[in-house]
Formats: sequence, C-alpha cells, structure tokens
Amino acid sequence: MIGVSEKPLRQPVIIHPVSVQATLPLRHSVLRPHASLDECLFPEDKSPDASVDARHWAAVLPAAPETVIGCLSAYRQTCPVALPVGKTRTHWRLRGMAVLPPFQGKGIGKRLLEKALADVSNSSPDTLVWCNARESALGFYRQAGFSIHGARFEIPAIGPHFLMWSAG
Ligand SMILES: CC(C)(COP(=O)(O)OP(=O)(O)OC[C@H]1O[C@@H](n2cnc3c(N)ncnc32)[C@H](O)[C@@H]1OP(=O)(O)O)[C@@H](O)C(=O)NCCC(=O)NCCS
Repeated sequence: MIGVSEKPLRQPVIIHPVSVQATLPLRHSVLRPHASLDECLFPEDKSPDASVDARHWAAVLPAAPETVIGCLSAYRQTCPVALPVGKTRTHWRLRGMAVLPPFQGKGIGKRLLEKALADVSNSSPDTLVWCNARESALGFYRQAGFSIHGARFEIPAIGPHFLMWSAG
C-alpha cells in the first residue's frame, strides 16, 4: 500500500456494533468526501427492514471511544448475479468499509471484516458474502479469501469496482 504507515498499533482496538449514524463521519471522510453527510446514507440504511437486515460495526481506541477510526456495514441482500455457489445460502452484502488513513495498514480493516463475517455467519450458518469492491481494495478482500466475479465496472464519481464474494 502506497503512503500508508504499516507500523503496528501500540494500543488495542475495540470493534463493536454501532448505529449507522456513528459510521457516517468516516464514510464521508474516507469514502465519499465529495458528497454530503446525508448522501453517505445508503438506500439500505433507509429501508423499513433496516433494523433487522442491517448491521454496522466500528473500530475505536479505548482512549477515545467516541472517535470511529474504522467502520463496516452488512446488509441481508441478494447478490444481483448468479455465483458458482449460493442459491440456497443467505446472502449478505458488505458496504461502507473504511479505515481512517493514519490507521490504515495496521490490521484494523481485517479485524472489522473478521467480526462482520463471524457475526453474519452466526446468525445464518450458510452465508454468501459479497461486495462491490473498489479496485484499489482488491488485495484487501483477496487476502481475506474473496474471489472476483465478472468484469471491472465503473461507479460514477467513485471509480472502478469488481464484484467480489466469499462463501466461507
Ligand atoms: C481497504 C481498507 C479498508 C483496508 O483496511 P486496513 O486496515 O488498511 O487493512 P489491514 O491493515 O487490515 O490489511 C489486512 C491485509 O490486507 C492487505 N491490504 C490492505 N489494504 C490493501 C490494499 N489496498 N491492497 C492490497 N492489500 C491490502 C494488508 O497488507 C494486510 O495483509 P496481511 O494480513 O497479509 O498483512 C483501508 O485501507 C481503507 O479504508 N481504504 C480506503 C477506503 C476503501 O478503499 N475502502 C474499501 C471500499 S470497497
């Protein structure tokens, strides 16, 4: 990773469930700086079923528990394409994966992802997890065992993406 400090963190990181509102400042600064805070709410966050079908996690440091330095959300949402496995599985979509730049490359994203995968597979044992991954983050998801499906596609104002998936 270019421009990212890979020095280990000297303090423990806590990963815990949060409301979607707690993730918005980080979604905004890392993922959608061109958008308003309101536009960092995904359609899934506004769905009437969001209280049962959406989950959000934050990474914080014990010394500053109000400051979210990493976040990730998961939504029970069917993958839009047919994958080699998955018809009978419960589909979860990952979105809003972000780590504050000074804390990138220190294992926080990996811990958030592990927490989300463990949580969704606890609630539905046969899961298929998918996401639209930014091209710049492919290595992160690959390292976690995700595979690419299909061709690169562009999300306007954000950039090139690939659909990636993992069935555990
Ligand atoms: C992508 C992102 C979430 C990764 O989180 P992170 O905390 O920096 O990553 P980690 O330190 O936990 O890395 C875990 C592993 O993935 C690798 N990795 C992380 N980011 C990578 C990248 N962009 N490309 C290649 N490999 C990467 C690390 O080297 C590490 O490998 P290791 O376990 O073999 O040492 C974070 O860098 C980020 O917020 N980037 C900007 C926003 C973004 O692209 N979000 C994803 C949207 S789909």
